[in-house]
Amino acid sequence: MKYYSNSVEKTYQIAAEIMKRYKSLRVFLLKGELGGGKTTFVKGFLKSLGCNENVTSPTFTIVQEYDCNEKIYHIDLYRLSDIHEAIDIGIDEYLDSGSYVFIEWPEIIEKEIDEAYIIINFKLQDINNRIIEVIEIGKQ
Ligand SMILES: Nc1ncnc2c1ncn2[C@@H]1O[C@H](COP(=O)(O)OP(=O)(O)OP(=O)(O)O)[C@@H](O)[C@H]1O
Ligand SMILES: [Mg+2]
Repeated sequence: MKYYSNSVEKTYQIAAEIMKRYKSLRVFLLKGELGGGKTTFVKGFLKSLGCNENVTSPTFTIVQEYDCNEKIYHIDLYRLSDIHEAIDIGIDEYLDSGSYVFIEWPEIIEKEIDEAYIIINFKLQDINNRIIEVIEIGKQ
C-alpha cells in the first residue's frame, strides 16, 4: 500500500491511518533515506493517541521511551554497526515486550526478528513530497 505525503501534517495523518489499520501489530520497521520522515511518522502516531510526549530523533540516544497510556519504544540503529551492538542495547527485550516498537535504520537486525512486523518505507521525492509505502511481511 502506497501513500503520498506533501507535508508534515499529511505524514501525521498517514501515520494515524496506518497505525489504525495495523492495530494488532507492535513492531514497525521504518526504512528509507535521511530526512524521509521516519521520526515525523512516530510523532504523528503519538499525536493520534493524544499523547503529549515530545518526540525527537533517537539517533544519539539510540532508544527513546515515551510514557503514553502504554509505553512506546522509539529506536534508531543508525549509529550501531552490527547485530551484536543491537543485542547489547537490549533489542530482544524491546521486541519481545509487547509494547509498540518503532525502529529506524533496522537493517542490521531485520533477519533476526521473530515477532510479526511490517516495514514502512519512506522515499524522498523533493523538498516536501514523500512516498510512504507499507510492505507486509509474512502473516500479520
Ligand atoms: N511530507 C513530509 N513528511 C515528513 N517530513 C517532511 C515532509 N516534507 C518535509 N519534511 C521535512 O523533512 C524532515 C523529515 O525529518 P525526519 O527526522 O522525520 O526524517 P527521518 O527519516 O527520521 O530522518 P533520519 O534518517 O535522519 O532519522 C523534517 O525536517 C520535515 O520538516
Ligand atoms: Mg529519524
